[in-house]
Formats: sequence, structure tokens, C-alpha cells
Amino acid sequence: MNIENITIIGSGYVGLALAVSLSKKYSICINDIDEEKVNKLNQGLSPLDDDEFLEQFKNSNPKIIATNSIEKALKKTQLVFICVPTNFDEKAGCFDTTIIEGLLDEISRSKSNPLIVIKSTLPVGFVEKQNKIFQDLQIIFSPEFLREGSAISDCEEPSRIILGGDSSFNQYEKIFDVLLSAKKSKFDTTTRVMSSSEAEAVKLFSNTYLAMRVAFFNELDSFSIQNSLSAKNIIDGVSDDQRIGDHYNNPSFGYGGYCLPKDTKQLISDSKDSPSKLITSIVESNQERKKFLAGEVAKKEFKTIGVHRMIMKKGSSNFRESSILDIINFLDELNKEVIIYEPLLDDSTYLGKYTVFEDQDIFFQSCDIVLSNRIEEIPEKYLNKIYTRDIFNTDR
Ligand SMILES: NC(=O)c1ccc[n+]([C@@H]2O[C@H](COP(=O)([O-])OP(=O)(O)OC[C@H]3O[C@@H](n4cnc5c(N)ncnc54)[C@H](O)[C@@H]3O)[C@@H](O)[C@H]2O)c1
Repeated sequence: MNIENITIIGSGYVGLALAVSLSKKYSICINDIDEEKVNKLNQGLSPLDDDEFLEQFKNSNPKIIATNSIEKALKKTQLVFICVPTNFDEKAGCFDTTIIEGLLDEISRSKSNPLIVIKSTLPVGFVEKQNKIFQDLQIIFSPEFLREGSAISDCEEPSRIILGGDSSFNQYEKIFDVLLSAKKSKFDTTTRVMSSSEAEAVKLFSNTYLAMRVAFFNELDSFSIQNSLSAKNIIDGVSDDQRIGDHYNNPSFGYGGYCLPKDTKQLISDSKDSPSKLITSIVESNQERKKFLAGEVAKKEFKTIGVHRMIMKKGSSNFRESSILDIINFLDELNKEVIIYEPLLDDSTYLGKYTVFEDQDIFFQSCDIVLSNRIEEIPEKYLNKIYTRDIFNTDR
């Protein structure tokens, strides 16, 4: 079977990045339940307000067809990528995988028999279980490592490509060919095949390691604040050890975004039968960090506290699980007045209680101090009002 037509279910960061990158070589159909996204895609517009995607849709005009009909999307396709949300269900204490289970059922009933690659992040053991339930389907898991704000570049320069599935499955090479076609020709990429449960664990442990690293340097930074020491000097000295390395060591308001918070919590759930203390502590450390910083700001007795941007990273289109959201809550508990500057918000208030400013200058003039997780976007004339822990001006 030659792969020519590819269906991508879900046009969020993961699905859209794949669609744009693969559209140079393959005929791509996107299926999404969000009609606005489908309409935008069919008009040749980016459904995400993210700098990289906006630029690609403006300059490269990727050829993508979109539909909200799953039946239509499954016709004539040889390969389906599932890229839908797997949100963490706080009540159940694990990922909500019902969307994916429903889609597998639809694909099975359609009798279209495509190869299925799940890119959504999964609990360990999910694909193995589904392959037993849907014996007519061939389901593979391929962990996705892209980052919001650099999603297309990350597809073009993937750190590794991993396929997880049954050892009797004999079509791994075909899927590697498809995924490798997205990468820049000169870029070398490691490919690996393993069981689906191992691949699921790779994704959760990778993100949990990153969360741990953020939490570690944030604890170092909190220690420095508490003891009136220079966090920069300590981090520089620690990072000179090549085993530790001079990267991903910039303090912040806490890890956040869509993936790290939920993936660490899922790994806690998956680790409950094995000896594990560290992973739980990472989640607790991150909460402690936000509470500590809110307390530090509150101590300064400023009247009006501004929040400059609620996104986690420059260029991102959303502020899902952004660390500043918890800091706002903690400041609220301390009865502090908070106002916000966030161009992604249309309303004049956030949650009906925090004033949202449209005009950046009026915002800055109305604040006594302004919290900003990253200072890259702050106009120089307002830097003296900023409270940040962004020491190195990087997210790498
Ligand atoms: N965002 C990231 O940086 C990132 C990185 C790696 C892995 N992941 C994982 O990939 C998955 C998707 O993440 P995302 O950020 O792209 O999500 P997203 O929320 O940005 O997009 C998901 C899309 O799926 C669509 N959708 C929901 N239900 C659907 C259905 N039944 N049929 C068709 N479309 C449906 C939504 O409308 C939305 O457009 C998640 O499991 C996430 O953990 C995300």
C-alpha cells in the first residue's frame, strides 16, 4: 500500500503542524469538530493565532482540505493521525481519553482500514488495550515533542521520531518515511521502534524531566531570593558542570502550558504501583513556587499589581495552564488588586473581576508593579516597573 492521502484528526498545535509540514508531499485532509477552524482552513487561513502558523499560511499557502465530517475524512485515506486533546480529568485522576476511544470506534465502523498513528499524549498501556479491543485496526503511538510557539520548526527538526506498537506490525518504515518527509533535508534524526507502552512512557517521562528541571532551577531561585543571593551567579556556577549544562535553566513563575502540568499528573497516576516520590514532589514544588512568588510580590505593598501577558511563551495563541493564572489566584487570596494586559482577551474583564486593558501604555501607567514571566516583549521604558524572574531571557 502506497501512502498518498493522509487524514489528520484535530487541528490544534500538533495536528496543524503535521498538516502544514506534510502538505508539501502528501494530500492532506483535516477533520475537526470546530466549524470555525474548518472554515478558516478551507479559506487558506491559519486557524491558530500563532506567529509561525500565521506566517506559513500567509507565505507558503499549504494545500489542506478540511471537513467536520469524519466519514468524508476517512474516505480514500491510507493513514490517519489522531491529534485530539487528552485533558487531565482531575476527578478521575487521569487523562480523559474518551475522544480517542470514540474516534477509534468510528474508524473501525467505517471499514476504511487505514493505518492509525496516535500523536495525542496517552496514559501508559492505552494503545495496547485498544489494539485488543479493536482487532481490525492497526494502532501505533508516536509521541509528539513539539513546543507551542515553534511547532513547525520542531516538526522540521525533530529531536527523535519514535513509533510504538506491536512487534508483529510490519509497516513502521512507511510511517517513518511520512514523518521524516517533514524534516529539513540536512537535519539528522534518530528513529526508534519500541512497544506502545514504552513509547507512551517516553513521552510522559520526557515532559516530567523537563518539569523537574524547571522546578529545580525555580527552587534554586526561590532559595536565592530568600537568602538575598544572586540566582544568576549560582545558576552560572552550577551550569558550568557539563553534566548539568547551560540550558533550560532560566527561572520562571513556574512550569505551565498545556502539556507539562497534565503529563506530570498522568505520570503520578501511572506510577502509583511503583516506588515513586520524586514525581509527586515536582507537582508540589511548582505550586509552592507560585505561592512563594505571590507572597513576595504581596509583601512589597504595592497598590495595583499588573499582569503583562498571560501566555507562557512569546508567539503562543493561548494561556492554557499558564503559571501566572495561579499567581493571580494567590494574589486574590491575599486581597491584592490585579489588572491585566493580554491582547488575546476580548472582554474588558477577566473572570468578571480583573480589569483587562487594551492599551499597553494606559495599562503600565495604571500599575505600581507589573508581573511578567518573560521580559522579551516589554518596552524598554517600562522595564523599571517589571517584576520578573527571567534572568537569562530565554526559554531554551
Ligand atoms: N500543544 C503541544 O505543545 C503538544 C505537544 C505535544 C503533544 N501534545 C498532545 O497532543 C494532543 C493535542 O494537543 P494540541 O495542543 O494540538 O490540542 P488542541 O486542543 O490545540 O487541539 C485539538 C483539536 O482537536 C479538535 N477536536 C476535539 N475533539 C475532536 C473530535 N472528536 N474530532 C475531531 N477533532 C476534534 C479540537 O477542536 C482542536 O482543534 C494532546 O494530547 C496533547 O497533550 C500537545
